[in-house]
Formats: sequence, structure tokens, C-alpha cells
Amino acid sequence: MSSEQVGPLAGREVLLVVGGGIAAYKSVTLAREILRAGAKVETVLTAAAQRFVTGVSFAGVTGRPARIDLWDASYPGELHIELTRKADAVIVAPATADLLARMAHGLADDLATTCLVAAKGPVLVAPAMHPRMWEHPATQANVALLRARGVTVIGPVVGPLASGETGIGRMTEPEAIARAVVAALTPRRDLEGLRVLISAGPTHEAIDPVRFVGNRSSGRMGFAIAEGARDRGAAVTLVAGPVALADPAGVAVVRVRSAVEMRDAVTAVASGFDVVIMAAAVADYRPAEVAPAKIKKSHAELTLRLVKNPDILAELGAARGDARSPILVGFAVETGDLVAHAREKLARKGCDLVVANLAEHGFEGADNVVTLVSAARAEALERMDKREVAERILDTVREIRASR
Ligand SMILES: Cc1cc2nc3c(=O)[nH]c(=O)nc-3n(C[C@H](O)[C@H](O)[C@H](O)COP(=O)(O)O)c2cc1C
Repeated sequence: MSSEQVGPLAGREVLLVVGGGIAAYKSVTLAREILRAGAKVETVLTAAAQRFVTGVSFAGVTGRPARIDLWDASYPGELHIELTRKADAVIVAPATADLLARMAHGLADDLATTCLVAAKGPVLVAPAMHPRMWEHPATQANVALLRARGVTVIGPVVGPLASGETGIGRMTEPEAIARAVVAALTPRRDLEGLRVLISAGPTHEAIDPVRFVGNRSSGRMGFAIAEGARDRGAAVTLVAGPVALADPAGVAVVRVRSAVEMRDAVTAVASGFDVVIMAAAVADYRPAEVAPAKIKKSHAELTLRLVKNPDILAELGAARGDARSPILVGFAVETGDLVAHAREKLARKGCDLVVANLAEHGFEGADNVVTLVSAARAEALERMDKREVAERILDTVREIRASR
């Protein structure tokens, strides 16, 4: 290991907390990736983590002993205070269901959790667990609480699991986690001065006072773009359909339900923006009539007549005409022929970039597989965390602006 640090994290210190999951072995690679980015790394292993990996592997990679004991007699002071005093960021990988719960409740009963309560800089977690553990309401509530406190949650992603099954719960790959650590410690302000409008989530088209036609969009993609643009210095307005996500801090949020409400909200604010990113999964159709009272199940059959909703993206494209601003970004969910459909949408709706993905990816998970289609090129990205997809979309928006 070179003592000369180069890379985006040169001179920085990162504390890596390793939890007790199968993915713990990948955290040795993560430590190496963070070192390659130029930082120095201290490692703390939970007692359970040591069942999966030993501190020797981390010591070998980082050049520093892995810490395992809050009561370490060889250290004269408070080890948790010293480790977190010098740490510019803390990354928990793998973050077990147990660690997430202990973090959410501020427990401090071992070296790992005591460090997490004492941490002062950005804290990132990369959860890894079986899908049933990830989807458990307690885990989801803990993650929501941590997010609301500003913790960056990376993944988990869908993929093959240790159990032999495939599902959500696999830890994000170490290279991508390391990139997130770099991003957290080297915030770019390259969208400073830009006004960005984003739509997110599904729309709900009322059938009667209690029922609606909707879709499975979670809103995570649009929220990730809003957070990414905010962190890069943009002034962000987010028009969100009905989603279970909390308002991101520092973003102006307008909540709507239906496509018509979304169109009205977007057109009410759309002028004056430099970039408009329509990530919402807007329903193409809505019931022609909304029953004023709950429809009773007395009919053997019920026919819903649907009428077309406004096409918000096409309206914005048409309103822009030949003007070069705002930059207009649309999303396309397809079941095949991704690039051809995206190119067609690019032309038909008059936008500058179409983010295309297959319906089987992207709707509810924390990650997505997209192709970025502009007039100049089609760039197929690998599967990645939605926040990382967001950064790539914003990078492309910057390129398009610069090319004008
Ligand atoms: C073989 C095995 C694999 C496990 N894998 C995981 C895992 O991937 N994610 C998880 O949250 N817990 C997993 N657990 C359970 C944790 O190890 C257990 O909850 C432990 O208390 C976590 O401690 P820690 O959070 O202090 O590291 C696993 C347990 C065993 C025995």
C-alpha cells in the first residue's frame, strides 16, 4: 500500500462498519475500493461480522488493525470517540436488519453502534439481507427513519441471494458503494443556479370516492433525481403523485393525485425552469365518470369507460417549440424494442433525453436498469442504485446544456 494518497478522497478518513451478514466478505473489496479512491480506512467489525470474516483480512488491506471491542484494553482512551473524531464519513456495509434497527433507535451497546451514535459526518448504509427481512415493516420503518435523519441508503438491489433465491436484498456491489462514499465526501455543486422541475410517482384516477385506477410506480426514481439535483446545488421543485415517501428536505414539494392535477400543477409552475424532468408514471387514461358515491357490488358486471388523460410531456414539448430551454427529459417504460421506442418518443414529444427502461425493471425496487437515449446517442447503463441512475441522468442533462 502506498503512503502517498491520490484520488478524490486523498487526505480523507473513512470508517467502515461491517455487520454480520453473508455479504461481509465483499466489504474487504469495499475497503480496497475506498483506499483506491485515496482515503484511509478504519474498520469496525460487529461480533456477528467476525463469524463471517476476520479482522485479519481488513488489517491486511487497510494496514490498520480492525477494531472489534468497545472495551479494547490496548487503547487508553475512548476508542469510539477517537474513531469517529477522525472519520470524515461512516459506511455500514453490510448493514444488517439488526444494525439498521439499532441505528434507528440510537442504541450504543457495542463498538459499531457506539461509533454510529458518535458519528459526525455523512453516514451511509448498504443493507443486505433476505427479502423477507428487508420487506418486514420494522425494517422498512427503520430505514425510513434513518433516511429522514439524513442517512444515505444505498440499495439493496435485486439479484441472486445466498439462499439460492433471487430477490431484493442483495448488497450493492462494492465499487458502486465506494462511488457513493466518494459522492458523499466530494459534493459537486455543478447545478448551482439552475432551476429544476421534476415529477414523480404514479397518478391515481378516481373511479368513486374510495377506488382508483393506478400503477405500481413508487416515486423513488423521481425523488432520487430531486435529491441529486438539490445536492448538486439546483433549486428543485418536485410535483409528486400519491407515494409513501417523505418530502426531501430542501426541495419545494407539490402533492397531487390525478394526471389532471399533475398537469395543472406542472403547467402552473413550469415557466422559468432550466430543466424539466418528467419521471412520473402518469396514467394514460382516467374513468370518464367518477361515481359520486361508492359503487355497490350489486352488478354482475361493471364496465369502466376510460378517456384519455392530458399528455404532460407532449404539451411541454409543444409549448417549448423551437426554444432550447427548458431541457426536457421524459421517461419511457417499454416491454421491448427499448431504443427504437425511446427514439420515437424523443421525436414525437420534442424532448432532449428519454430515460428508457423495461417494465420488468425499475418500478418498485431501489435500483434500475435504464438506457439514456438522446439525439446523439443511446447509452445503456448497467443495473445500479436509483440515486446513481439519477446522477447519470443529471450528468447527461449537463452535457446537453453544455453542447448548446
Ligand atoms: C448464516 C447467516 C447469515 C446471515 N445473513 C444475514 C444477512 O445477510 N443480513 C442480515 O441482516 N442478517 C443476517 N444474519 C443474521 C445476523 O447475523 C444477526 O441478526 C446478527 O445478530 C447481526 O448482528 P450485527 O447486526 O451486530 O452484525 C445471518 C445469520 C446467519 C447465521
